[in-house]
Amino acid sequence: MSGAVTLNSGFSMPLLGLGTWQSKAGEVEAAVKHAIKVGYRSIDCAAIYGNETEVGAGLAQGMKETGVKREDLFITSKLWNTKHHPDDVEGACQKTLSDLGLAYLDLYLIHWPHAFRRGDDVFPKSEDGALLFETSVTPTETWLALEKLVEKGLVRSIGLSNFNSLQINDILEKGKIKPCVNQVECHPYFNQEPLRKFCEEKGIFIMAYSPLGAPQRPWATPDEPKLLEDPKLMEIAKNHGKTVAQVVLRWQIQRQVIVIPKSVNLNRIEENFSISDFTLSSENMELLASFHRADGRVVEPRVNGKSRDGHHPHYPFRDGLEF
Ligand code: A2P
Repeated sequence: MSGAVTLNSGFSMPLLGLGTWQSKAGEVEAAVKHAIKVGYRSIDCAAIYGNETEVGAGLAQGMKETGVKREDLFITSKLWNTKHHPDDVEGACQKTLSDLGLAYLDLYLIHWPHAFRRGDDVFPKSEDGALLFETSVTPTETWLALEKLVEKGLVRSIGLSNFNSLQINDILEKGKIKPCVNQVECHPYFNQEPLRKFCEEKGIFIMAYSPLGAPQRPWATPDEPKLLEDPKLMEIAKNHGKTVAQVVLRWQIQRQVIVIPKSVNLNRIEENFSISDFTLSSENMELLASFHRADGRVVEPRVNGKSRDGHHPHYPFRDGLEF
């Protein structure tokens, strides 16, 4: 096991979990089952991934075949952008619980701070193809509705995803419950150190999505550096008899950042889990921290090269706002 952290809700959360974004419905069931067999206890899900029913089947099978109990697992899911209205939050959570076949979630996150038009169309569009936004519901109003899910026992801990520091501060000011985590893109080329420090001071953990640098993203350009092929990382990996993926995952857990590498490949699921038998020196930790690039963010919704949601008043990534 690669360790766990205690969230500000009092619950323990593994530092390493399996990601399921872009895991195809036909592959994710076997991936989740295999992950439980090799020792993963944390699985990161989301309604918008469109695969929660299959993840649920994998959880059920994994538990049955290994004897691992529900209370030994840590299951995270996320509220989608069309369900931010306070009246929609419980229904969305119940749908996720029913798809996953669970009575409660360990952690429920607001997937993005900015809302889309309410309804069952997950990407509602006008006739001219523009995404329809909902701007009257603030992220903090949605947060107050998430707090009620804790009171009702549907979720144990609540948190955020893709929130900036100003949005987090607003929640800390107006909410009764503190967010436990903020899940954001985070890898050596975009290390989120300012946001990590800010969150640490507030008792919030960073949870890193795309920790391997989203290597198979279809929008990568040929000139962009490839994290998993970085020569300096390859050398560190060789010195430890490990792979680059294992080194960058180890780097995150050593800096107390929760990581959720996605894989549907059974060997890579095992590879990513096998990171507790080596330690990176402080020199190596600093070297990895020095890889940060101001333009290192690679996961941002874009259309024709432009930010798809940048004009939404609650969009988190803003020019001039450091974190
Ligand atoms: P696959 O599911 O076929 O293993 P990230 O979490 O940064 O978005 O990275 C996920 C991507 O990286 C997926 O395409 C996944 O493909 C691939 N991947 C996962 N683990 C490894 C690994 N250990 N080495 C290389 N690629 C990996």
